[in-house]
Amino acid sequence: MPTTLQLQRSRSRRLLACTLAGLLGLVSLRAEDGYELWLRYRPEPDAARRVEYAARLGGGVVAPERAVIAAARAELERALPVIAPAAAGPRGMIFLGTRTDHSAIFALVSTGELAPLGDEGFVLRAGKWQGHDAVVIAGNTDRGVLHGAFALLRHLQLGRPLDGLAVADAPRVRERIANHWDNPVRTNAFRDESIERGYAGESFFVWSELPDRIDPRLQDWARLLAAMGLNGVMINNVNTAKRGLEGWRLLTPEYLPKLAAMAGVLRPYGVRLYVSVNFFSPVLIEKLPSADPIDPAVQHWWQTKADEIYAAIPDFGGFLVKADSEGEPGPMKYGRSHADGANMIAAALAPHGGSLHWRAFVYDRTKGDRVTQAYRTFMPLDGEFAANVFLQVKNGPLDFQVREPVSTLLGGMQRTNQLLELQITQEYTGQDKHVCFLAPQWHEVLQFDTHARGPGSTISRLVRDSPNPGTRNGVVGVMNTGDDRNWTGHLLAQANTYAFGRLAWDPDLPPEQLAAEWVRLTFDRDPLVVATISRILLDSWPAFENYTAPIGLGHLTRRGDHFTPDPANRVDYHGADALGVGMDRTSATGTGYVGQYFEPWRSRYESPTECPDDLLLFLHHVPYTHRLKNGRTVIQEIYDRHFAGLERVWAFQREWETLRGRIDDERFAHVRDRLAAQAGYAAEWCRSINGYFQQISGIPDGQNRPLP
Ligand code: GCU
Repeated sequence: MPTTLQLQRSRSRRLLACTLAGLLGLVSLRAEDGYELWLRYRPEPDAARRVEYAARLGGGVVAPERAVIAAARAELERALPVIAPAAAGPRGMIFLGTRTDHSAIFALVSTGELAPLGDEGFVLRAGKWQGHDAVVIAGNTDRGVLHGAFALLRHLQLGRPLDGLAVADAPRVRERIANHWDNPVRTNAFRDESIERGYAGESFFVWSELPDRIDPRLQDWARLLAAMGLNGVMINNVNTAKRGLEGWRLLTPEYLPKLAAMAGVLRPYGVRLYVSVNFFSPVLIEKLPSADPIDPAVQHWWQTKADEIYAAIPDFGGFLVKADSEGEPGPMKYGRSHADGANMIAAALAPHGGSLHWRAFVYDRTKGDRVTQAYRTFMPLDGEFAANVFLQVKNGPLDFQVREPVSTLLGGMQRTNQLLELQITQEYTGQDKHVCFLAPQWHEVLQFDTHARGPGSTISRLVRDSPNPGTRNGVVGVMNTGDDRNWTGHLLAQANTYAFGRLAWDPDLPPEQLAAEWVRLTFDRDPLVVATISRILLDSWPAFENYTAPIGLGHLTRRGDHFTPDPANRVDYHGADALGVGMDRTSATGTGYVGQYFEPWRSRYESPTECPDDLLLFLHHVPYTHRLKNGRTVIQEIYDRHFAGLERVWAFQREWETLRGRIDDERFAHVRDRLAAQAGYAAEWCRSINGYFQQISGIPDGQNRPLP
């Protein structure tokens, strides 16, 4: 349970935030605090377009009375009067529903159009019904209609015409899930953050208030998840017991009504609730002598627990388990495999249609190169997992670094359902202090061709269920939200939240489009604003990589904080010595990780000259004088890239200055101040890493630049 002090603190933060927001509202009507995210409905700036919208949509919304449709309708009714206030004259209406809900929908959308769109797709169509203008949002299901409502709003917020509107869209990816790493219960004063790797304040799940009081922020959170186009959310830290955490308590009877209340908030938004659970729950909660998956008493406990949950939450999504990893217990303790453990819990969920998400983030520091271990652990189990088990695999084999090769399990496992896990929260990519737009990184991961089933076996196809018949797949994002007023701490980090949702819906969307869309929705359509902020976003990941860890240098941050440069204590990750740098992961002389890839990657990665330079030091240990494809030596490249990254941040600052007066002062100042701080951190990185390498290699910077 949270202490009284913690409760008081979180309440007083809320009170202060509300009071400040109220005061700011009085001081300047234009000031914006970022709370509305991209669901920021403002009058359509173009007068002709505004008239068009008002004429076509001003007659109101016609919709059946069902919960999910009601949520869609509420969103439209919140937005439309602001975007285009109704004017005098004839006014068209919006019709929401399935084909059988209204004759307007029946008339304007055919079964043939809807049929291929599945149970989450939708059609948007403008036309005439009984001689009047009509816009239809049709789906095969209410969830499809809800997605359609958010899509129509985006269309309007982007100022696109309604004339000829004919959109048919459906998510390409079946499972699209947010993972929150919030700690519901904390007892250990040593860990005082309430969100593991959270950088945007405290958790906004106030468990002590549930189920009696639903904080309005929870409603807005459900709207956010729906606006991201997701269909599932896992709400608590993957670590449920280590270092005083007690997330395992979510399965105790005390929490069941609270979970049910939360599921009730999510249900109208088409989002299913998932919970992270401890493999040792039968021991922790019931004091059973064991958690051995073959023990009938243990199996019975899980079955009873699942029955209990589904009685209260019939659409419960399922559990996520981090087992035998970083102190979280698992089936290995009993000599059982991950498949034995996962299948046992999955069997309890199966009769209810629930799923079990099992994390592949498993390694043991005493067993050699951790990068090789997930593959070695899970590949032999391919085909052994039950039909409702999903293996949840991080994009890279290490841990959400600024750049890693794509995990060999993705593509490798062909008879197992898989979820690609991406990290939206910027644990290793600058946290709330650096702008680092991750869509370009995710795009590279998604477009990586594993060659698992010949050319064209991209990760994008994998998450879309294509290459491995009979498997179900999806995408998971570790969330970056907290109770900071603007949700993400750094305002520009909202772009990551947005981009994750869009890529989970359609993994082939280009990062440039995502950046531009987000800027238009969040700031303005002014071309200078769009171009400037998009450029900063799109350059931010390469810049961050340059001034932190270029050419695959890997994990250089201080143990624990994952933020501060600490190269001297990270030799086990970058392998620098007096003669060279990098980790030899080749088959010939290294840890053998490279051998886990399909051809042609296996051969390309094995050779230091053919290996892409961006991954060189992740896969090879080379002399400092090794020449890259651009002709420069490795050591000089390290120096140059750090200076280049730092200079790019200075340029971000100058570019941001050009927006003064073009966007509201509050958000202008927020980002300006963050960029100033980022410049300081980037200088620290440049100083630390270049200083370290000058010292250890004994080779000076060829350009003789002083350390910043
Ligand atoms: C990283 C992170 C941990 C997290 C873990 C995981 O190691 O630092 O905080 O628990 O990943 O993904 O399980």
